Amino acid sequence: MSGHPRIVAYLQRAVSHEFSAAQQFTLQAVQAECLGLGSFADELRAGALDELRHAEAFSRRLHEIGAGSLSVKTVVLPVGRTLVDLLRFGLATEADAMRLYAEALRFCEGRADAGNAELFARIHGDEVQHYQELERRLREHGADIKH
Ligand SMILES: [Fe+2]
Ligand SMILES: [Fe+2]
Repeated sequence: MSGHPRIVAYLQRAVSHEFSAAQQFTLQAVQAECLGLGSFADELRAGALDELRHAEAFSRRLHEIGAGSLSVKTVVLPVGRTLVDLLRFGLATEADAMRLYAEALRFCEGRADAGNAELFARIHGDEVQHYQELERRLREHGADIKH
């Protein structure tokens, strides 16, 4: 497994993205509760935990390749007020993750770095599932999908 500087940078961006997403989904769970959407709030909390597990996996990999486990800055992502906003903002976050991990995966494959490619591919697959679930719900609410 490579400690190539670009792979380290992808992993650090991934950790930052995952903690940012966990923060966004936790705040969205609170907003969903305020809207009386208790079961959706539970799903958002579970989603936040998924993203924290991703952050941990990427952090562990940084440690394994000798890049340490430095703290990263999180990005402030929008929460939203209505159910459709919550879904839309969540969808945009999942789309960003998919783009980042697809790019990182291509780079790892180009360097024949199977170990890191496997990690980015696995988590990319999780984000695709998250994306598809949000997309399905948005369509149920008759919202346009654009990001
Ligand atoms: Fe994630
Ligand atoms: Fe996700």
